[in-house]
Amino acid sequence: MNRSLTSPNAALPRLGLPNLGLGVGLRAAHFSHILEHWPAVDWFEAISENFMDSQGRPRYVLDRIAERYPIVLHGVSLSIGSRDPLNLEYLRKLKKLADETAARWISDHLCWTGVAGRNTHDLLPIPLNEESLRHVVARIRAVQEILERPLVLENPSTYVTFADSTMSDWEFLTRMAEEADCGLLLDVNNVYVSSTNHDWDAAEYVRRVPHRRVVQFHLAGHTNCGTHLIDTHDGEVIDPVWALYRLAHELTGGASTLLEWDAKIPAFPVVHAEVLKAKRHMSAALPGFAASPQPRIQKPSTAPAAIPIAGLPLAAPSEAIGQPLHFVPPEVR
Ligand SMILES: [Fe+2]
Repeated sequence: MNRSLTSPNAALPRLGLPNLGLGVGLRAAHFSHILEHWPAVDWFEAISENFMDSQGRPRYVLDRIAERYPIVLHGVSLSIGSRDPLNLEYLRKLKKLADETAARWISDHLCWTGVAGRNTHDLLPIPLNEESLRHVVARIRAVQEILERPLVLENPSTYVTFADSTMSDWEFLTRMAEEADCGLLLDVNNVYVSSTNHDWDAAEYVRRVPHRRVVQFHLAGHTNCGTHLIDTHDGEVIDPVWALYRLAHELTGGASTLLEWDAKIPAFPVVHAEVLKAKRHMSAALPGFAASPQPRIQKPSTAPAAIPIAGLPLAAPSEAIGQPLHFVPPEVR
């Protein structure tokens, strides 16, 4: 790990978890390149579900990589927001994989991914209010007890908000992290996507999350559909997202940073070069940070009527309905 990447004011506790440096999401398209070249990457993030039930080549590759690099497990099926009971078999397999790969931590998303035992393979949003906070906090505490380690939860990209929500994303994330004593994975691209879709102030979002709880950052590309942004992970990180990253890096003192690239995946050196761009943003001065302007997206001329999803009324149905609600890597679909 390149210690020079750690900011001098990186004294925030973040649950005692280390700053691993600049990492890359582990994808099957790059297995051969990694095994052949052992690139100078600080760490890898592996999608938990791609390896939990596999004893074949993917698991063989992960084990070889875990011998040489720090590994973090990132899940897409914990479904912490669901009303279904926790899936104890899933958690058992997740803990086993984490133990066997010496995973530095385990992360997933603040969302729900299914109901009645069915997996939708979408990271679906939850209403943000006192009731959902109590529900999520209790489940995080239970999960942490089973996994015997802190859970790190990511802010998802969202395309709808709920009539039942009574607090902002950042207020919910703050209270959730403090009350459940868990970590946060701040996906800076998701902050940008959600803030643009809902006309929020993305810089304010980054300023208001609890910085001492931020264990990790995600960076990724997204797609601008004109009326909304979609979190597609299919390209380079755009400049306004780098600007938010600079702010987040400054406010947190730096944290493990990971680039996600899940569609139209280029050769490994291209992906690696993209995350290495973070170095120049870590050293950038921030005199009176001003976020780059978010794109003006075309809003519908009349607000669509509220649409119930899983019995929950939505306040601001999005043009994105019918599109994937968050990018889930194809291997786990
Ligand atoms: Fe992410």
